Amino acid sequence: MNIMKQRNIGNTTVSEVGMGCMAFSHGYGRIPDEQYSIEAIRNAYDHGCTFFDTAEVYSPGLSGRGHNELIVGKALKDVRNHVAIATKFMPSGMASLPGGSLYKKIRKQLIASLERLQTDYVDIYYLHRTGGTSVEKVAEAMGRLIDEGLIGGWGLSQVDVDEIDRAHQVTPLAAVQNIYSMVERYCEAEVIPYCREHGIAFVPFSPIASGLLSGKITPATQFESYDDVRNWVPQLSGRNIEGNMPIVELLKDYADQKDATPAQITLAWMLHKYPNVIPIPGSKNKERIVENLGASDVELTEDEFRSLEEELNELKVYGHRGLGGF
Ligand SMILES: NC(=O)c1ccc[n+]([C@@H]2O[C@H](COP(=O)([O-])OP(=O)(O)OC[C@H]3O[C@@H](n4cnc5c(N)ncnc54)[C@H](OP(=O)(O)O)[C@@H]3O)[C@@H](O)[C@H]2O)c1
Repeated sequence: MNIMKQRNIGNTTVSEVGMGCMAFSHGYGRIPDEQYSIEAIRNAYDHGCTFFDTAEVYSPGLSGRGHNELIVGKALKDVRNHVAIATKFMPSGMASLPGGSLYKKIRKQLIASLERLQTDYVDIYYLHRTGGTSVEKVAEAMGRLIDEGLIGGWGLSQVDVDEIDRAHQVTPLAAVQNIYSMVERYCEAEVIPYCREHGIAFVPFSPIASGLLSGKITPATQFESYDDVRNWVPQLSGRNIEGNMPIVELLKDYADQKDATPAQITLAWMLHKYPNVIPIPGSKNKERIVENLGASDVELTEDEFRSLEEELNELKVYGHRGLGGF
């Protein structure tokens, strides 16, 4: 097994590039067969990945529960003690519950996730969306689950700095998972600095902007008709792809110079920029997963980083997803 550079998330140390497993079940069109997905996850582990991201809602068409957790569980059961697994729960119907009942409901959903994942704890358990639920009450429940040893630490997803701060004061957060990439940078203002200051890992989701920053998407690219988020990701509407091409070209220039790929450069950029960032690029393709993990070997010098950043800051981004989108 390869060893990758490591970063901390809560009390756990993980590979500095993790793996988003969602697309094996949802979000990017047709899903591979289960055996291929299991092998792709195990292959990522063999290439040094020790941080795997899933969620209870990742199932085809977002209907049903647990399709993705079942795959991740099968793939990682033999190496469970060598990897960190993060999953998330959706607080449907929980907004009005008093503290005790909220804890029981979250615990029940967690136990179902643990069964699917074939494990007796998860390293990080996220509230997937706040959905009107009190983050303080969820924080309290998460504290109890940590005390019980059912979760190593907890996190929030798609939240602003006020929600992070209120939650962190009740039970310290291990991680915040928000959308972040070269074309979604609002977290640079407050969220990432807050996380850095308070020892919270920041886990960017959609770090390749749903494929845009890989350089493989053009205005002519046709997305799939069923369960494909790229049909509504704002940077990927036909006109916006065209508008965003200068950013892709910039990445291609650096990729050529560094003998790397655009996806690797965009990941290396965020790894260089922040020591608490642990991206979880997603792909349902074995080779591209390994390519993305290889971003850890692409070192930008301080000069390269500065000029990339300066050139990027000059370019307009077309389309913005922000905190509101799924
Ligand atoms: N917390 C949340 O609310 C939330 C929301 C969304 C996602 N997530 C998590 O974040 C993970 C990553 O996000 P994401 O999958 O939405 O976005 P992403 O990682 O930015 O992009 C995924 C897309 O990029 C393509 N891609 C990836 N690497 C590539 C490469 N090297 N070359 C060419 N194309 C490449 C993939 O296509 P192929 O599959 O064809 O390679 C896929 O279409 C998910 O798996 C999930 O675990 C969390």
